[in-house]
Amino acid sequence: MCGIIGYLGPKHPKDVLLSGLKNLEYRGYDSSGIALMNDESIQIIKSVGKISELEEKIKNEKLINSNIGIAHTRWATHGKPSEINAHPHSSGHITLVHNGIIENAIEIKNKLIKENIHFNSDTDSEVIASLINKYYNGNMEEAINKSIKELKGSYALLIMCDNEPNKLYAIRCESPLILGVGNKEYYVTSDIGAILNYTNKYVLLGANELVTIDKNGYKITKDNKKIVREINISNISNEDISLHGYEHYMMKEIMEEPVLVNNLIKKYANHLELLPDLKKYKHIHIVGCGSAFYVGMIGKNFFEEDGIDVSIDVASEYRYRNIKYEKSTLVILISQSGETADTIAAMRMANSKGIDTLAIVNTETSTIARESTYKVLIEAGKEIAVATTKAYILQVLILSLLSYKIKPDSNYMNDLLSLPQLLKVQLDKTGFHKKMADKVYRKKDVFFIGRRIDYAIALEGSLKLKEISYIHSEAYQAGELKHGTISLIDNKTVVFGIVTDEVTHDKTLSNLEEVIARGATPIYIGTDKLKYKNQIIIPKIHKKLQPLLVVPSLQLIAYYVAYKKGCSIDKPRNLAKSVTVE
Ligand code: G6P
Repeated sequence: MCGIIGYLGPKHPKDVLLSGLKNLEYRGYDSSGIALMNDESIQIIKSVGKISELEEKIKNEKLINSNIGIAHTRWATHGKPSEINAHPHSSGHITLVHNGIIENAIEIKNKLIKENIHFNSDTDSEVIASLINKYYNGNMEEAINKSIKELKGSYALLIMCDNEPNKLYAIRCESPLILGVGNKEYYVTSDIGAILNYTNKYVLLGANELVTIDKNGYKITKDNKKIVREINISNISNEDISLHGYEHYMMKEIMEEPVLVNNLIKKYANHLELLPDLKKYKHIHIVGCGSAFYVGMIGKNFFEEDGIDVSIDVASEYRYRNIKYEKSTLVILISQSGETADTIAAMRMANSKGIDTLAIVNTETSTIARESTYKVLIEAGKEIAVATTKAYILQVLILSLLSYKIKPDSNYMNDLLSLPQLLKVQLDKTGFHKKMADKVYRKKDVFFIGRRIDYAIALEGSLKLKEISYIHSEAYQAGELKHGTISLIDNKTVVFGIVTDEVTHDKTLSNLEEVIARGATPIYIGTDKLKYKNQIIIPKIHKKLQPLLVVPSLQLIAYYVAYKKGCSIDKPRNLAKSVTVE
């Protein structure tokens, strides 16, 4: 979590850092700060709250002249959001920003306290600054290399030393960090999106490769040995990070779905050979977190229909399971960012046992894309809203195509080709989705019920609603509701009944009747026009494509509910888009 950016070059760093932080804000937004350095001093400005609050504060400060700066936007792990805990952190000669978690921070801190070193904050990051300062003896590279040997956990660090006012240092392990290369100016950041206004040239950094930057250029070393890394060109455009007139990224990203779906269909429909063939696997394990996990639940339904044995886990559980891998097992990792810490650990566990891994990812440069055996990119472009929408849809589409490749079905292809247009029409039903949101936005409890694939859809609908509108919401297997949870249903509850699965259609409708009998307001979402007052009719399409027409409606309803409640839609409280810590 957390976003970091550093700059060294002819410009005053303030504008670069603030613009970078705004683009990184999706990674955490409970506090932020910048540090500027010149020959005489280091100036630090921090603020609690969103980047706009830091920006206001900076406007009222007299800034030092400077050509080097670092900045950070925080998602609190060690210590509550406060100015003291906000980055940058300083100790003696050292000022740094840190993204990641140091697992043995308390141990190191206790040792340093015994050596009479004083700490101001509750953070693990200040411990790193103190450690480097302790080892600093006039040689920063040595001090950094010595310090990281003591750290357990994940880190991306941007480091300045007041004795070396012309240099910026950066190093990473587990947490992402890239070096951006401009014209005699350099950027270091956790996400290329933060620097695209300035350059699209970047260098990927390996674990514990130390970058030393000054105005003459940069050098990369590992254990004092020089490393040469190629300069890449990013194909993410500034277009991706513009709102294009929408009020929120979430709405913009939902509305991009038909075009992006169409792009993937055009790429793969007649070229299935571009996708890996999963027929050879007898067992598939699907692993992901959050919405990516719910995508996997849909995939489980697809692949089981194809006759493959499928298990699914959230990555934070999977990585700690004692799995006896069978031969011919494939582990599918689903991740938009490709940087989710638990999903990375799950992938590495399978890789280390010699098991094939397939990544379904959005970010080509990410750890998961780079380390998995196979990868399929979902080509969503940049997704900025914390709550995923378009990436979810494209991940489901890829799983559907993979499943079709295993077991082709003559009815699939025509429906596939009609999907983008149907999706567009569904998304255009604005008034209709707003009307459903009206039924929900004042409620305290909302349930989503469904069976089989409809249950997987219910889980995503419920997550979307709760994460951005803060309304308590749960998804239940429709048949399970009466084993306890139905006692919560009363005349204040809304229940969404998802009914697209033919096999369980009648059963789920009966379950919807059961909650109506207990006073709940039902919202029926299905492919048949029924008698319900509140109903969302979804065009019928091949069952392996059906979720792609249902979930966008649920995304829109969640959006409108959050909008009516005045919530922070793109950056819901307590969340971060990319969960790079356990
Ligand atoms: C966070 C995001 C979710 C996302 C999950 C997994 O919780 O808010 O939208 O589904 O992480 O992220 P990934 O990048 O691995 O798909």
